[in-house]
Amino acid sequence: MDAEEIRVALAATGYVAEESSAMALWLAMRLNKPLFLEGDPGVGKTELARAMAEVLELPLIRLQCYEGIDASQALYDWDFPRQILHVRAAESAGMHDVDQIEHDLYDRRFLLARPLLRALEEPCVLLIDEVDRADDEFEAFLLEILSDFAITIPELGRIAAQSPPLTILTSNRTRDVHDALKRRCLYQFLEHPSIEREITIIRTRLPGIGEALAHEIATTVERIRKLDLIKAPGTAESLDWAATLLALGARDISPELAGLSLGALLKYQDDIAQVRALLAS
Ligand SMILES: Nc1ncnc2c1ncn2[C@@H]1O[C@H](COP(=O)(O)OP(=O)(O)O)[C@@H](O)[C@H]1O
Ligand SMILES: [Mg+2]
Repeated sequence: MDAEEIRVALAATGYVAEESSAMALWLAMRLNKPLFLEGDPGVGKTELARAMAEVLELPLIRLQCYEGIDASQALYDWDFPRQILHVRAAESAGMHDVDQIEHDLYDRRFLLARPLLRALEEPCVLLIDEVDRADDEFEAFLLEILSDFAITIPELGRIAAQSPPLTILTSNRTRDVHDALKRRCLYQFLEHPSIEREITIIRTRLPGIGEALAHEIATTVERIRKLDLIKAPGTAESLDWAATLLALGARDISPELAGLSLGALLKYQDDIAQVRALLAS
């Protein structure tokens, strides 16, 4: 598959990709490198990974990062309650060989595979979502995993991916991710879509919407994004707004309809007030 074929296949799943994004995915697969996607919330980073998994007909394994996430939640953990049950069962069955019981405790069936381990064990697209939420130590840990796609579990030995999965990392840029991690990856910045692309996205996702209304929504959102807002609307929000306007039976965006529906697009009262003023002028 070349980059253009990837773009077309993504479109068939409902994802309207920029040529540069399709090219970045192609390169990531070609060079076997993780792809680091950065951009504002709602520009389609997570969805791009989901759509790509659909194109490749592979499961998407998603690791959602958060503050305080560590290896036991990302990679594997031992199933402590089940291990306890096993010890009890062994005891009541009259087993006294302590070494044997202990040895059995670290069997694969007592291992809880978290997303990163699962991604080593089965073909998939691996999404490491919102890395910017995790802390420095976790980044260092990711760097290690991403460099050899293998881990060693002391009790079980080494587990390595047969071939590294296509890996996509995303960041909403709430903080800078370290250069070391970025260096390991190909980098792609996702912008808010152009008016034309946003119209296509709206009409792809909401086939019931007329061209004129989709056009008006996209041009209005473009104007809104130029304001100095607390939170500029992403594509997710323009789609919500479009769905709301559609539900209201709108044919165009009158100030009255805008007043009723802006809560789908903007999530801060100050932003809503600013946009109301813009649309009334
Ligand atoms: N290029 C696109 N084509 C189709 N839908 C898109 C596109 N970009 C964003 N979307 C829609 O916007 C929503 C939000 O995108 P998402 O991937 O969650 O954003 P992010 O992860 O960047 O915050 C998705 O559910 C998807 O429906
Ligand atoms: Mg996301």
